[in-house]
This record gives sequence, C-alpha cells and structure tokens, in this order.
Amino acid sequence: MNVLIYDNEEQIGVAAGSLIASQVIAKPQSVLGLATGSTPLKTYAQMIKLYSDGAVDYSKVTTFNLDEYCKLDVNDVNSYHRFMHDNLFNSINIPEENINFLDGNAEDMEQECISYEEKIKNAGGIDIQLLGIGSNGHIAFNEPADCFERISHVVALKESTIKDNSRFFKSIDEVPTHAVTMGIGSIMQAKRILIIATGENKAKAVKQMINENVTPQCPASVLQFHADVTLMIDKGAASLL
Ligand code: PGA
Repeated sequence: MNVLIYDNEEQIGVAAGSLIASQVIAKPQSVLGLATGSTPLKTYAQMIKLYSDGAVDYSKVTTFNLDEYCKLDVNDVNSYHRFMHDNLFNSINIPEENINFLDGNAEDMEQECISYEEKIKNAGGIDIQLLGIGSNGHIAFNEPADCFERISHVVALKESTIKDNSRFFKSIDEVPTHAVTMGIGSIMQAKRILIIATGENKAKAVKQMINENVTPQCPASVLQFHADVTLMIDKGAASLL
C-alpha cells in the first residue's frame, strides 16, 4: 500500500482530486468509482477546479457510486444521488447518462444489484475507485461482519454508522436503517484504489486496515490484498501508526 501522510485535509483534497483528474487526462474514457461522505468533499472541489481551469475534460467519463440509502427519495437532500450532483456532477461535464447509482428504491433489490454489477462489467470495470473509511472500518456500506460480501447487496446499517451519519439529518430517527452497497468483491475488482481518511476518529480504523490481520470485522483490511492502493491520510488519521 502506498501510504501518504499529509499535514491537513486541504492537501489531501488537492492530491486526491489531482490523482483522479490525471487518470482522466491519461484515459478520457475512464470509469470512476465514487464515494460520498465528508472526506471526499475537498477531492471533488479539486476535480471541479481542474475542470474550471480547463485542465481536464470529463465528457467521456463514466461513474459508478459505491452506495445509496434505501427508501429515500433520490431528490432528498440526504440522498447520495443528490450529494453527488450538489458537490460534483452539477459543476463538471460528465453526461448524465454516464452517471450510475444503485437504486435504493428498486422493487426487486436483488435484480438491481445484479444489473449494477453487469453495468460495471460492461463499462470495462472501474479504473480508479475512491473510498472513504468509516470509524468502524467499513468501506462503502460494507459493515463489520462475519464474512466479506462479494457483490452489491442490501445491508442493515450498524448503530455506529447510523450515529455517525445522523449529523446530516434533523434527528437520528430520520437516518435510513438500510442501504444498498457495492460488495467487497466489486470494490476489489477496481484496477486502482484511492482511499482517503482524515481526523483522529479514523485513526483506529486506519491502523486496523493497514497494520493488523485481514478480517471482515474490519472490512477495509481486505485492501491489503489489492495490488494498487494509495492511502492518503492526515496526521490525525495517522496518529496510531
Ligand atoms: P465520512 O464517511 O467521510 O463522512 O467520514 C466515510 C465513510 O463512512 O466511508
């Protein structure tokens, strides 16, 4: 794992956004795997800046987002669909038809998951997958569990995740209890992985991910088995290394 430690989250945003943009400059038809949460906001700001500066053209890019809440309207201010449009897609030029999300409101969730996996395969696979990490070691919504789930699936969110995410909702009772997420196998098939983490509340998960045994109890630890992972962390997230 290529571990890069930065002084602050601003620097990580510039570095991570530039790395993704450079992937697109090198291969305009790149397939990007994208993430939500607070951590990638500065990464997306840098991707937008490089587009506004005329340094990168995203018009041939295809995207797949990692996950989405179940039973939340896509236009709800807390949907990941809305988050991505507000924080990235509305400010750059990826054609709407190239933007893909798991549908958390699909009638047949099993079929929805199978179709999503097929779509990723048909697009040629993900060239670079951006990830955050949960304070409990989750990646996407793959929560600590007894086994690694291979493909996209519906999950019941852990209490710790509901609590972490309640900061975006009016009250904790409004946080959806279920989500649909790409699986560990889907993530591991990405050609490159860029994982970013900031703040001391991620330090334990970061330590488990890179310094301890691979276990589904810390889903991010599986990344030790991926051949091309770049981890960008600030001093807080690196504080237990
Ligand atoms: P955060 O979420 O960036 O909001 O901390 C990361 C994650 O849960 O994957």
